[in-house]
Amino acid sequence: MQNRELLFPIHEHAIMLADSVRVQTIKRAISCYASSESTFIELGCGTGIFTLFAAGLFSRAVGVERDPRTLKFGQAVAEIKSGAADVEFVLGDVFDYIDCYDGPKFDVVFSELLSPWLLREPLISVMSGANRKLLKSGGKLLPSLVRLVAQIGTFDFQFSGIELLSYHYDFLNAHRFQALSLPRVIAEITVGNAIAGRMEGAAEFDVLAVGEANAVKITTMAELAPGVVLWGTPSIMPDVIVPLELRQTLDNNPVILDWKLETESSLENVHFKLRRSK
Ligand SMILES: C[S@@+](CC[C@H](N)C(=O)[O-])C[C@H]1O[C@@H](n2cnc3c(N)ncnc32)[C@H](O)[C@@H]1O
Repeated sequence: MQNRELLFPIHEHAIMLADSVRVQTIKRAISCYASSESTFIELGCGTGIFTLFAAGLFSRAVGVERDPRTLKFGQAVAEIKSGAADVEFVLGDVFDYIDCYDGPKFDVVFSELLSPWLLREPLISVMSGANRKLLKSGGKLLPSLVRLVAQIGTFDFQFSGIELLSYHYDFLNAHRFQALSLPRVIAEITVGNAIAGRMEGAAEFDVLAVGEANAVKITTMAELAPGVVLWGTPSIMPDVIVPLELRQTLDNNPVILDWKLETESSLENVHFKLRRSK
């Protein structure tokens, strides 16, 4: 029996399906590798829309999903859709599927287990397992690279007189994030070879505007295929505003942002601190 607490909220699929930037970007990336000689697998296929799309372009398409409610959608569409070549939906956990797999390897492995800065979803672990067990030599992982982008600024964490010093999704427009620096890439994760867990670093930022910095906006970009990049959208890996550990007044001199995080953990475990550049 599935633990329903662990299942992806079903209504979020409607929001993701309505997000045309997400849907079109992912379809464009899948099309880049389309070939009637090649095979495709999606790990965590949800409603199966991308697995079904791939079925029309590849010789074989497989979608693995642990939530029977969403998988039914893909199965129902597959039944009525003619022309879908060889499509197979598997109900189960992707980790179990990867562990037990001993069939023919795939040319393309896609997974949308994407979350802001890869903090929640297990994309890194799933894709490193897929790289070892499912991918043909010379095959493609989608995404292949994820970049973590940060920008320092000011955010009003007061709501009705109460300070909610917690992360906030930028797209909710609760309050406006005021940028005090340019955004910059602070880390790159090579999907397939990376190991999930603790990451830390320091990055220097030029100051754009003098002011009191108390927050960092985190943005995610996932490279799906050459020239096809999925930036965070409101429905997938949205931009998030995270409070700094200590607020700091910025003058015109560059500042260093020290950061620490734990991928595949929680947004609560991201720590940012500012210090002056020497
Ligand atoms: C971002 S959603 C979207 C997936 C799909 N591309 C779509 O368009 O519907 C990620 C999906 O991965 C599934 N998922 C998460 N962890 C999983 C796991 N360990 N095994 C199988 N499926 C998983 C969730 O149930 C969810 O449906």
